[in-house]
Amino acid sequence: MPAFAVIGGQWGDEGKGKIVDLLAEKAKFVVRFSGGNNAGHTVINQLGEFKMHLIPSGIFYPGVTCLMANGVVIDPAAFLEEVETLKKSGISVSNLFISDRAHVIMPYHILLDGLEEKSRGKGAIGTTLKGIGPAFVDKIARMGIRICDLLDKENFRKRLSTVLEYKNNVMVKLYGAAPLALDEVYEKYCKYANQLAPFVRETDVIIREALKKGEMVLLEGAQGSMLDLDFGTYPYVTSTAIGGASLSMGLGIGSKKIDGVIAVFKAYTTRVGGGAFPTELHDECGHLIRERAHEYGTTTGRPRRCGWFDGVVARFSSEINGLTSAAITRFDILDTFPTIKVCTAYKVGRTTYHRPPASQALFEKCQPVYEELPGWQCPTTDIRSFKKLPPQAKAYVKKLEELIGCPVSLVSVGPARDQTIMVRPIP
Ligand code: GDP
Ligand code: IMO
Ligand code: MG
Repeated sequence: MPAFAVIGGQWGDEGKGKIVDLLAEKAKFVVRFSGGNNAGHTVINQLGEFKMHLIPSGIFYPGVTCLMANGVVIDPAAFLEEVETLKKSGISVSNLFISDRAHVIMPYHILLDGLEEKSRGKGAIGTTLKGIGPAFVDKIARMGIRICDLLDKENFRKRLSTVLEYKNNVMVKLYGAAPLALDEVYEKYCKYANQLAPFVRETDVIIREALKKGEMVLLEGAQGSMLDLDFGTYPYVTSTAIGGASLSMGLGIGSKKIDGVIAVFKAYTTRVGGGAFPTELHDECGHLIRERAHEYGTTTGRPRRCGWFDGVVARFSSEINGLTSAAITRFDILDTFPTIKVCTAYKVGRTTYHRPPASQALFEKCQPVYEELPGWQCPTTDIRSFKKLPPQAKAYVKKLEELIGCPVSLVSVGPARDQTIMVRPIP
């Protein structure tokens, strides 16, 4: 059985949680490999509704082992809170493990995320303020504290005192903020270390062993292609790669071990935070999508910006991630629309663009070129087979497939596990 990834095809919040929860039934392992608790993955199943920020969405299956691999940044408080929430719902965390190599989100990361955003003024990225960016900056700057460092108390203190002196200088001298006290941070994180210790493993070894045994490993992506550090709407992106090479880097396996990459796309588009969004709707239609779909952030509660499906973004996502298939979610949200638009290209003046430009300034100027399709105007939430979809709905799926440039494997017609139409087997 293969290693198989589920990633976001747009700007995040595409419904990865639902799709991972669905596909995890056949998996032995579900693994987060990037991002941190900036993610918010909603899972609705027979046990209730859950908002997963760090813990993989496979946790609801007793036979599935869930890993947070080396590519994830861990906020211990957020992790422990999530563990408690699951336990209260009677869900076992005995098969849940964290990589000893994962980096830790420290209090100064969260403070700096806020201070940096404030200093950006009107150019603020609109981060989740969870300290993700500053934690990944420290990882690259070789100033990070990893889970293994926390567990070695003596070395942890030495390392923390050096790093904290630097961070306090930045916070006090650059931002005029209050410094953090070494003893307080040290003691708090020593307590976390004791609580985290039973979860810590060499997750890369576990994953390689699983693949050797031929067990199915499902890789749970976070964020979405257009938030990718290299290929997204830079600088309005997150601080990590979200697919492509980050898959194997965030896990400790060779890239040839990944057999399939499925990207999740909403049947329209949303985005939270700042940055270019050519198909954004500022009219009644955008409002209708937001309210019908309750498009408010799972992590921050912010209203999501809503717009039509962007085929330029989708094709780009397919190409940069080497997609083998696509899942379309929130199809039911379009049930009431008399016509539905899809963006097939961008225009700036007389120039036509078929891929998102690298320059953010140029991207901001891109005007969508639309094709308008007839809506189906009837409920799809109870439909379970592609054949039974109204002809206009089938045509819409086919149009998305053509725009994305890879086969659509499933269409989701509601948030629950069973509200899914399997179009074809996932390759
Ligand atoms: P993720 O971050 O990609 O996991 O997505 P989020 O959980 O942040 O946001 C997706 C939202 O869409 C959640 O509220 C899901 O419960 C919901 N959802 C997923 N699939 C469907 C669907 O097909 N129809 C509807 N109506 N809601 C869906
Ligand atoms: P899931 O996994 C949607 C966005 C933030 C902001 C930018 C940078 O639920 O799809 P960060 O805190 O990462 O430094 O913020 O990225 N962002 C997300 N948007 N879904 C997410 O995750 C996101 N994670 C980060 O809104 O624009
Ligand atoms: Mg989300």
